[in-house]
Order: sequence, then structure tokens, then C-alpha cells
Amino acid sequence: MDVTGTRAITVDNLLKRYGDFEAVKGVSFEVGQGEVFGFLGPNGAGKSTTINMLCTLTRPTSGRAEVAGHDVVSARDDVRRNIGLVFQDPTLDGYLTALQNLRLHAELYGVESALVLPRAKQVLQMVGLWDRRDGVVQTFSGGMRRRLEIARGLMHSPRVLFLDEPTIGLDPQTRRSIWTYIRELQEREQITIFMTTHYMDEAEWCDRIAIMDAGQIVALDAPETLKAGVGTDRVTIQTDDNEAAIAALAADFGVEARIVEGHVTFGVAGGETFVPRLFSEFSVPVTGVSVSRPTLDDVFMSYTGSTIRDAEEDPAKARNRTMMRMMGGARR
Ligand SMILES: Nc1ncnc2c1ncn2[C@@H]1O[C@H](COP(=O)(O)OP(=O)(O)OP(=O)(O)O)[C@@H](O)[C@H]1O
Ligand SMILES: [Mg+2]
Repeated sequence: MDVTGTRAITVDNLLKRYGDFEAVKGVSFEVGQGEVFGFLGPNGAGKSTTINMLCTLTRPTSGRAEVAGHDVVSARDDVRRNIGLVFQDPTLDGYLTALQNLRLHAELYGVESALVLPRAKQVLQMVGLWDRRDGVVQTFSGGMRRRLEIARGLMHSPRVLFLDEPTIGLDPQTRRSIWTYIRELQEREQITIFMTTHYMDEAEWCDRIAIMDAGQIVALDAPETLKAGVGTDRVTIQTDDNEAAIAALAADFGVEARIVEGHVTFGVAGGETFVPRLFSEFSVPVTGVSVSRPTLDDVFMSYTGSTIRDAEEDPAKARNRTMMRMMGGARR
């Protein structure tokens, strides 16, 4: 959705090293003006480190990045004037009211004083908090605080809004409503949005996503295109003997299955025609079965050999995935 043909963000071989450890291993991508672009990946993938480099909060070890036409190292102040930021960790002042928080931010960004109240009203209405403008923030719910942070990030009319885990820890309903605001906002103000998440469903709201794992971008495209690229449906079966089922699937059908969250799961082209065959020909009793179209988790799995949730639970797996890729394993 590059409305003007120009780039809002250009990243070329950006790398961040902490001591011997490469948190971001030379990533390259571009984000079009007006696009909603997301970074999806498990804990420790390097999402926040990348966003922090783009926001000029962390200095890249090497490589280049331009945001709103300005270099993040040599033109830091120009970048800062053009961006809004919503951090992963909350940064509102709980003792101030919603409106006071916005005023403080406007002052820091040098917003002309006559414009402060009209703009505050506009952004607070956008996130449904205008009626609560005089409420003290510490009395707000998590979802209200998050919405207020987004409103604050917009106070100085940035051209690019960065959101690091915008809905972390919120319930699905609140996450959905925040995303409705974000999409409305993008349409109304034509701003570019760059966000990170480790929620699959959240990534679906983006025009394009980069899937990040262990400091590298492993895939980048529209969510629909990525899912279509998996090419197989996901079949999950329940049995009393998972190991026997996996062995029999390999022997009877030539299918490579694995256990994910306690159930045997595998990918096949045309899941709905495979299942009847499974019931008539399979040698292990099956007590339950489900077939689903590929999800972004399947995309992640097809590139890394692990689900995002498994990757979150076991950091050692991130290292294994890196090894697999180095040895040409997983998908490529
Ligand atoms: N200041 C730092 N010093 C040393 N290592 C760091 C520093 N900041 C981040 N790292 C490491 O870099 C890696 C990437 O961290 P980062 O915060 O970018 O991940 P993330 O993808 O945002 O994860 P999460 O989903 O948990 O927010 C991690 O292994 C982290 O420990
Ligand atoms: Mg992070």
C-alpha cells in the first residue's frame, strides 16, 4: 500500500551487536508510505532492538536506516521530529490525568500551544477517551492506558508511528478494539505504522509482515501471501499413542508429523480429502481430528521448524533454529 511511491522507512543491512552477541544480524527491508508494517517473532528475536535503532534510541553497530527520509545516525533530530513512539513498557505518568499526559508530551515536542487542545481532543476522540480526559491515569484499565499511549504518540502529528508490542498483555477483545483504532488512524492520517508483535492474530492486521527469528528476517510479505505459500493444510489428530501414530503416518502415508502442544500434527495438501483416507487406512486408532488452513504459525514453522509458542518457551530452540538455517535445514 505504497500510496505515494516513496519510502517511509529504508533499512539496509542493519546490525546490532552487544559484546559478542548479534541481536540483529544485518536486516534489510523497506516500508512504503501509508503502510502498516509488522515485525512478528518470538521473545528475543530482535524486534525491539530493530525498532530502537529506527527510533534513534539505540545506535546500529553497522548498516544504514532512513526514516521519513532522514538517516537514523547522522540526522537523529530530524528522525525524532517525524516519528511517534509507543514503547513495549508503559511510560505514562500515573499521577497525571489523561489530558495532562498529552500536554506534557506536546510541550516536549514543541507543539504550538494554540494547537495543543484541539489536537488532544482529536486524538482522544480517536481512541475513545475524550470523556475520560480528566481521569487520573492510575485509575485507568490496561486497555485504556494503551489507547492513551497511542493517542500520546500521535500528539505531534508524526509521519511514522512506531508501536512496540502495542497490545501486550491485553485481552483479545481489547486488542481487537485497539487494532480497529490503529487501522482507522492509518486511514484518517495517512501515516505509516511500524509495529512489533508476537501475536499471530495481530500480525494479520498488517499490510505486510516480516517474520523475525534469532536476529534475522526469515520471510517478508503480505500475511495472505505468506499463508498461501505454505501450500499445505494443517491436520491435527488425537490418539492414545502419539509415537505410534507418528511412526504409522510416516510408514503408511509418507507424512512427517510432530507433536505440538500434546497433539500429533502434520501438513498435507488437500486436508479434507486426506482425512477420509486416514480413517479408512490408518492402523492406529484416532479419537479426534481437525483440519485447518495454514496460519501464520504454520508459516513460522515452515521457515524455522518450530511454533512461535514453543520458541517462546524454550530459548535453546532459538539457537537450534539458527543452526538449522546455517546448515540449510527448515524450509531454505
Ligand atoms: N542492552 C542489551 N544488552 C545485551 N543484550 C541485549 C540488550 N538488548 C537486547 N539484548 C538481547 O538481544 C536479543 C534481542 O532482544 P529484543 O529485545 O530485541 O527482542 P524482542 O524480539 O523484542 O523480544 P520480546 O518479544 O521479548 O520483546 C535478546 O537476546 C536480548 O537479550
Ligand atoms: Mg521486544
